[in-house]
Amino acid sequence: MKKLVIANWKMQMTVRQSAKAAKIFARRKWPAGVDVAIAPSYLAIYAVREALRGSSIQLAAQDAYSEDKGTFTGEVSPRDLKEVGVKYVIIGHSERRRFFGETNEMIAKKIEGVVRNGMIPILCVGETAQERKLGKTWEVISEQLTVGLPGTFPKRGLVVAYEPVWAISDGRVGNPARPSDAAEVHGDVAALLKKRFGKASDACRILYGGSADANNAASFIVEKHVDGFLVGGASLKADSFEGIVDVCSL
Ligand code: PGA
Repeated sequence: MKKLVIANWKMQMTVRQSAKAAKIFARRKWPAGVDVAIAPSYLAIYAVREALRGSSIQLAAQDAYSEDKGTFTGEVSPRDLKEVGVKYVIIGHSERRRFFGETNEMIAKKIEGVVRNGMIPILCVGETAQERKLGKTWEVISEQLTVGLPGTFPKRGLVVAYEPVWAISDGRVGNPARPSDAAEVHGDVAALLKKRFGKASDACRILYGGSADANNAASFIVEKHVDGFLVGGASLKADSFEGIVDVCSL
């Protein structure tokens, strides 16, 4: 299975800056053995799509609403994301859970919407510092997975991103997990997926996210069940992002 690296640009760049960065990314030669995608902010999605034409980089989205159409002012339909060429959709990012009150139940519905529209969901899970301190890491993550995951394995594929909330950077400085701690959670996630989906779960990629960068990526990727990265801060510049992708191609 190919490794996967997703650039999550969050709300860090303007539309113009995103288009410019995407052009720079598109000019680089990305290794054929790694799937690479960029999740720009919504308003930049067309500009980034155009900039990525002819490159192997795929388009991703940072979120989607659960319904395809209707009276939902301000929401973004997964049907529209499909129409504009989005392949992967991040769902349940800890910033969505924390700042916008998303619950596991809401996230489950959003995942269904992504799958129904033929895109690949990236379900984000992870514990806070407090939850880890209290020894509740797996309790929290297993609940996020049990409620959030779809009933049957999605035909187009499924991605889970383990992102310890305390390890996610503020865009500049971060505090990554220890690779061995991440590996423990990744192993538990793989076992839960196996129990739920059987053999089909082999097609699910489990990404690590939380201050991943070109310097530490190698120490994560050697761990079992680490199938790539969801990258925030280090994805804003082509050089640092490329360093992470390169590690995945070795
Ligand atoms: P970070 O963000 O790489 O800046 O820690 C990761 C994420 O939030 O997806």
